Amino acid sequence: MFKPRVYVTRQIFPDALDLIEKSAELELWPEDQPPSPEQLKEALADVDGAIINVMDHIDASVLEAAPKLRVLSQVAVGLDNIDIPESTKREILVGYTPGVLAKSTADLAFGLLLAVARRVVESDKWVREGNWKISHHPMFWLGSEVNGSTLGILGLGGIGLEMAKRAKGFDMKVLYHSRTRKRELEKEHGFKYASFKRVLADSDFISIHVPLTPETNKFIGEKQLKAMKKSAILVNLSRGPVVDTEALYKALKKSWIAGAGLDVFDPEPVPPEHPILGLDNVVVLPHIGSASNRSRREMHLLAARNLVAGLNGERLEECANPELYESLGI
Ligand code: DGY
Repeated sequence: MFKPRVYVTRQIFPDALDLIEKSAELELWPEDQPPSPEQLKEALADVDGAIINVMDHIDASVLEAAPKLRVLSQVAVGLDNIDIPESTKREILVGYTPGVLAKSTADLAFGLLLAVARRVVESDKWVREGNWKISHHPMFWLGSEVNGSTLGILGLGGIGLEMAKRAKGFDMKVLYHSRTRKRELEKEHGFKYASFKRVLADSDFISIHVPLTPETNKFIGEKQLKAMKKSAILVNLSRGPVVDTEALYKALKKSWIAGAGLDVFDPEPVPPEHPILGLDNVVVLPHIGSASNRSRREMHLLAARNLVAGLNGERLEECANPELYESLGI
C-alpha cells in the first residue's frame, strides 16, 4: 500500500510519532541542533509532509526545493518562520498549534512577572553566593507590589487572554490593546480597552503577546520604553524582535523602566557575553513558554493530527491558510 513520506525536523513525543507512522513513512532529523537551510532542503526534497519547528525557516527557496510537499505542520502557535503566502500559492496546507499552549505560556508569563517584581532570581543568587547574613531585615529586598496594580496586555489573543485572566486572580486592573477590540471579553471579565499610548503610560506591568509581523518588528523601541512608567516592568513571551534589544538594554541600564522578564530574545540564543545578562533587573529564560510536559505533548499530538489529516485530503484541526480548502476541494 502506498504511504506518503514525511520528515520530522526535531524529536517529538513518541505517541505523536506513532500516530504519524500509522499512515506515513517517517524520517526523523536525529540532532538537537536544527538542520541548516541546505540540510532542510535536502530533507524535504522528496516528502509529502513535514513536522517543523520555529527554528526551521521555510522560505520560497525551501519550498522550491520541496516539489511534492502538501502539508507543513508547525509545532507552535507563532508562524513567523514560514512564508505563508508562498505556501498558499503552492497549495501547501500549513497547520499550527494554537490553544493547547495558551494556558502554560500564560502561567510562565505570570511567573516571570512575579519573579521580576519580587526579585526572585536576584535574591536566590544572593543567597547562593553566601550573602544571607541577617535573618530578616525590614528594608532589604523590597520589590514591586503585584496585587492591585495595573497590567497592560499588548495583543489579546489566546495567550494574552489567559494572562489577563490570571491577573484578575491577583486583583489587578487589566488594560489591553489589540488589533481587534474584544467587547465581549470586556463585558465578561471587566478588561478595559485602551490605545497603545495609554497602555504604555498607565500600566505597572506590560505583557507582550502579539505575533511577529513586519508591523510588530521593534514594536517596543526607545520611544515606547520612555513612554512607560519608571516603575514599569516589561514581560515578553511573544518573539524577541518585537522588542528592540538595544533600546531595552538602555532602558534597563538607565532606569527608564524598572525591570524586564524575557522568555524570548533577539538574537536567540542570547550570546553569553551580552551586556543585558550583567543587569540584575532582568530575568532571561530560554524560550520555554510552552515547555510543560502536558502542553508540549498536546502540541506534538495536534501537529501530528494536522499532518495526517492534510495527507489524507481532509481539513486540518488548526490551519493557517484555510482559504486553500476550496481550491483543494476539501
Ligand atoms: C510558539 O508556540 O510559537 C512558541 O514560541 C514555541 O513553543
